[in-house]
Amino acid sequence: MQFRLHAFLGGMISSVLAITSVGADAKRASVPDFHRDVLPIFEAKCLRCHGAKRRDGKLDMRTLDVLLAGGVSGPALKPGNAQKSLLIELLHYNEMPPKKEPPRVTKEELELLRKWINAMPVSAATTPK
Ligand code: HEC
Repeated sequence: MQFRLHAFLGGMISSVLAITSVGADAKRASVPDFHRDVLPIFEAKCLRCHGAKRRDGKLDMRTLDVLLAGGVSGPALKPGNAQKSLLIELLHYNEMPPKKEPPRVTKEELELLRKWINAMPVSAATTPK
């Protein structure tokens, strides 16, 4: 009986551990990655005005460092705080891309960008350029 109880508890504990680590993996996988998830959106909808050829508003959006350096209004984003990020604000109020300059950013893409910024460590802001 003693043995069976131990085996049972052992089984319980390892299933709990398994479930917890699956949860952690799923969480990690759902944090958007700049190169994998974010840059393709910028490439499709922003870089023709904020990239190699043009830097409207003096903003280059090709790397995280230059986004943090920002344009004429300062940093385009605030790590850990999507709500206070200029880039999100402009997208939220549908001001970027400029009116009559499709394609627009979809709701899903905006949500992804919010998640990406909110998951970003605040220390990213102080990474040397
Ligand atoms: C057709 C060209 C064009 C496209 C496409 C475009 N922008 Fe812009 N963007 C501009 C212009 C022009 C300005 C400067 C506007 C101003 O200063 O009033 C600007 C300014 C900005 C700024 C503010 C820069 C600063 O420091 O003042 C941000 C942030 C921004 N854009 C983000 C984006 C994002 C994100 C996308 C893609 C979803 C995008 N833009 C697509 C033309 C564009």
